[in-house]
Amino acid sequence: MASAIKLAWAAIVLMFISNLQQCVIGAPQVPCYFIFGDSLADDGNNNALPALAKANYAPYGIDFPKGPTGRFTNDSATRYLNKCLYTVGIGNNDYLNNYFLPQYYGTSRLYNPSQYARVLVREYAKQLRILLDNGATKIALFGLGSIGCIPYATTSFPVNSSTGCVENFNHAAQLFNDNLKSLVDELNTNSTNAKFIYVNVSGITPNVSGFTVFNSGCCRVINITGLCIPFRTPCKNRSEYVFWDSFHPTQAWNQKIAPRTYNASEPSDAYPYDISHLVQS
Ligand SMILES: *[C@@H]1O[C@H](CO)[C@@H](O)[C@H](O)[C@H]1NC(C)=O
Ligand SMILES: *[C@@H]1O[C@H](CO)[C@@H](O)[C@H](O)[C@H]1NC(C)=O
Ligand SMILES: *[C@@H]1O[C@H](CO)[C@@H](O)[C@H](O)[C@H]1NC(C)=O
Ligand SMILES: *[C@@H]1O[C@H](CO)[C@@H](O)[C@H](O)[C@H]1NC(C)=O
Ligand SMILES: *[C@@H]1O[C@H](CO)[C@@H](O)[C@H](O)[C@H]1NC(C)=O
Ligand SMILES: *[C@@H]1O[C@H](CO)[C@@H](O)[C@H](O)[C@H]1NC(C)=O
Ligand SMILES: *[C@@H]1O[C@H](CO)[C@@H](O)[C@H](O)[C@H]1NC(C)=O
Ligand SMILES: *[C@@H]1O[C@H](CO)[C@@H](O)[C@H](O)[C@H]1NC(C)=O
Repeated sequence: MASAIKLAWAAIVLMFISNLQQCVIGAPQVPCYFIFGDSLADDGNNNALPALAKANYAPYGIDFPKGPTGRFTNDSATRYLNKCLYTVGIGNNDYLNNYFLPQYYGTSRLYNPSQYARVLVREYAKQLRILLDNGATKIALFGLGSIGCIPYATTSFPVNSSTGCVENFNHAAQLFNDNLKSLVDELNTNSTNAKFIYVNVSGITPNVSGFTVFNSGCCRVINITGLCIPFRTPCKNRSEYVFWDSFHPTQAWNQKIAPRTYNASEPSDAYPYDISHLVQS
C-alpha cells in the first residue's frame, strides 16, 4: 500500500513554463508548475519504469502532434498557471490496483476502509513534508474521483441499480477524501508559509451536454488491464465519450473539469478556496 503511493511519487516530472508556452493562453500566473500524480494527472511518462500501466503506444497520444508519448492525457489546467504551483493527485492506484484486488494484495484484510483511508493519508502527509522541506508554498491536493463509476469498476464489480456505480468503491474514496480535506486543515494550521487546498474532484459534475457515452471507454480495451488494445483504431468521436479507456477520462471531459479546479463555479469545488486564489495568495 505504502509502496503504491511511493510508486506514484516516482512518476514525477518537473514542468516549466518555458516548455509549455506553445499551449499556454494568457499570462502565466506562476513561474513554474510541478505536477505530482498518478496516471490521471498529466505528469510525464513512466516509459523507463518497470510498470504494467503504460501509454507509450497508439491509440494513446492520439491528440499529440507526434503521437504516443507515454502520457495518458494531453491537458489537467496547464493554461492556468501563476510563484511555483504544486498539484498532487494520488491514491487511485491504492484502491483500484491494491485494496480492491484482494486476490493479489492483503490490505483489505489488514484494514477496513476507514482505517485504510487514515493510513494512506498519513503516508501522504509524510511525502508532503518532503515537498514542504524543499520550499513548496502553494500546494493543491486533488481528491479522488468517483472511482466506483469508471468502466473498469462497473464492468467487473456488482453495481447499485439506482446509481449504476460500485458503491463500496465510491464510499472508500469518500473516506480517503474526507481524510485528505482534514489534512489540508491540519497542514494549514501547522504551516507558517505554505498554503494547501483540497480540490473536490468527485464533487465537480460538469455540464454533460455533448457527451453521449458514459459507461465505456472510447478505445477497445484489454480485458485484464483495462488499457487500450495496442494500435486498434479508437471510437470515431472521442469528444462524446467521458472515458478514453477503462480508467482515464478523455481530454474532452478533463477540459470541463480543469477550469473549475482553477476557478471554482460551486463553493464545494475547492476548499478552502480554488487554485486561482492559491496562486494569488
Ligand atoms: C492536445 O490535443 C488538441 C487536439 O485535441 C490539440 O489542439 C492540442 O494542441 C494538444 N496539446 C498538446 C500539448 O499537444
Ligand atoms: C443504492 O443507491 C441508492 C441511492 O444512492 C441508495 O439509497 C441505496 O441504499 C443503494 N443500495 C445499496 C444496496 O447500496
Ligand atoms: C501538525 O502539528 C501537530 C502538533 O505539532 C503534529 O502532531 C502533527 O503531526 C502535525 N501535522 C502534520 C500533517 O504535519
Ligand atoms: C464535494 O462536492 C460534493 C457535491 O457538491 C459535496 O456533496 C461534498 O460534500 C464535497 N466534498 C467535500 C469533501 O467537500
Ligand atoms: C450546457 O451546455 C450547453 C451547450 O454548451 C448549453 O446550451 C446549456 O445551456 C448548458 N446547460 C447548463 C445547465 O449550463
Ligand atoms: C463529435 O461530437 C461533438 C460533440 O457532440 C460534435 O460537436 C461533433 O460534431 C462530432 N463530430 C463528428 C465528426 O461527429
Ligand atoms: C472479457 O470479459 C468479458 C466480461 O467478463 C467476457 O465476457 C469476455 O469473454 C472476455 N473476453 C476475453 C477476450 O477474454
Ligand atoms: C472566474 O469565473 C468567473 C465567472 O465565470 C469570472 O467572472 C472570473 O473573472 C473568473 N476568475 C478568474 C480569476 O479567472
